Amino acid sequence: MVSRSDGAAPSPDIHAHKILILDFGAQYTQLIARRVRELGVYCEIHPWDIGEAAVRAFGARGIILSGGPESVTDAAPPRAPEAVFALAVPVLGICYGMQTMAQQLGGRVAPGEAREFGYAEVMVRAPCRLLEGIVDHVRDGRTLLDVWMSHGDRVEALPPGFSAVASTQNAPFAAMADEHRRFYGVQFHPEVTHTRQGAAILERFVREICGCDARWTAGNIIEDQIARVRAQVGSWHVLLGLSGGVDSSVVAALLHRAIGQQLTCVFVDHGMLREGEGDQVMKVFAEHLNVQVIRVNAAPKFFSALRGQSDPEAKRKIIGRKFVEVFDDQARRLSDIRFLAQGTIYPDVIESAGVSTGKAHVIKSHHNVGGLPAHMKLELVEPLRELFKDEVRRIGVELGLPHELVYRHPFPGPGLGVRILGDVKAEYAQILRRADHIFIEELRRHQLYERVSQAFAVFLPVRSVGVMGDARRYDYVIALRAVETIDFMTAHWAHLPYEFLDHVSRRIVNEVPGVSRVVYDISGKPPATIEWE
Ligand code: XMP
Repeated sequence: MVSRSDGAAPSPDIHAHKILILDFGAQYTQLIARRVRELGVYCEIHPWDIGEAAVRAFGARGIILSGGPESVTDAAPPRAPEAVFALAVPVLGICYGMQTMAQQLGGRVAPGEAREFGYAEVMVRAPCRLLEGIVDHVRDGRTLLDVWMSHGDRVEALPPGFSAVASTQNAPFAAMADEHRRFYGVQFHPEVTHTRQGAAILERFVREICGCDARWTAGNIIEDQIARVRAQVGSWHVLLGLSGGVDSSVVAALLHRAIGQQLTCVFVDHGMLREGEGDQVMKVFAEHLNVQVIRVNAAPKFFSALRGQSDPEAKRKIIGRKFVEVFDDQARRLSDIRFLAQGTIYPDVIESAGVSTGKAHVIKSHHNVGGLPAHMKLELVEPLRELFKDEVRRIGVELGLPHELVYRHPFPGPGLGVRILGDVKAEYAQILRRADHIFIEELRRHQLYERVSQAFAVFLPVRSVGVMGDARRYDYVIALRAVETIDFMTAHWAHLPYEFLDHVSRRIVNEVPGVSRVVYDISGKPPATIEWE
């Protein structure tokens, strides 16, 4: 049983000191937000055109204008709402954000003669609070910073009140400041790690210039969410589809701490899980944490629904539909359920909100199992809605979930169903599970697991000839896939050592009956996707 202190647990107001990030469509906007959060400060990303009233109502202690793909020299460029400059709070413009700030406040921006892309050396020319004491090198008494640039246009005349603070070879105004109004602009990107002092610059802005305290910590986030969940659900019961993935696992642990036995989890084993996964989920949640989990062994239902289906999209739909059916069937047997918990995280919220200029926001179609029947009429509880994945992981660890579970690679909702090419059969799933397990086990053993972003085995239903001892074999092929990626939208194949691949291949062929050959996938994304289906 969890102990529940009734009455109002004093929850720190972790949202009181917050930063507003206006998004002009840059690839890096989410990175700015993650960096600010890492400094312990809450922030939200909103599209640049949210409107004057929304900017005022937000209550920011500071505002950051992101970069973006447009040019302020276009006919109708995206502009920061006037309120940004009227609220008397500090403002930091980054790249496009600096250019629009310069133009809107009376300066001039022109297309640069040379595009600056990649590494640049910034020379600090005048003292300013944003960069004071922040140094990479000193040459001839000048402070130099190693930064990362990506721009074509450049500021050519500063707006009234601003002074030139730093320059590069191609940009006379690589940074500008109006200390009186606390408006700052940097042409480079402090949010990327290639800008070596980027974190220090953001910290200076957010913590010192804006005066935000570091309240956004794992412990405080948990306390805050516990109080909110309790206030939202009262004494009603909450249902959660637990998949064993990071997000739903953290939701389970968090809700369990908040409402104990008012939480019921349903774990649907569709027969296409990884080796030992079902047992592990039960062990962690039901045995160790004492969470109420109903395990439904629905594998035969899924395999029979998938029989003869080889089209990837059809397979996804069938798995999704069956999942809802099985989940719904369990939910009907429970009484008092009024809420459905979901592991929605902040990037999902941002992407579905949509940004009008968001050219960089190519939205990944989310094909998760789920989409619940309307008749259930459940209200949603989404305690991770404000969190980035790295924050979800951090609170997962803080809540006592095993490191191995929290830092697991992503696993698609339809599971091995999209890693068995074509027809899905229980026999194929069995072969794949064993091969995949060997690959993952060896990655962990060689300290390679956390150096790749996602790794797995794929079952190819083609037979190839092999020889083992004196016997000829005519068996299936296993493909190994390992990728490195930041956002899963693009990826490189991981350059795993040959000796390692050799070792894994030998183990799979020797230990998994039915496999005569192992291949390694050396395709990037694009053109290939990460999954094979
Ligand atoms: P692709 O194959 O599109 O995968 O390059 C990108 C990321 O998404 C995951 N993925 C899925 N996740 N349901 C999911 O929940 C799916 O149907 C699905 N398909 C792909 C994939 O594992 C990778 O991390």
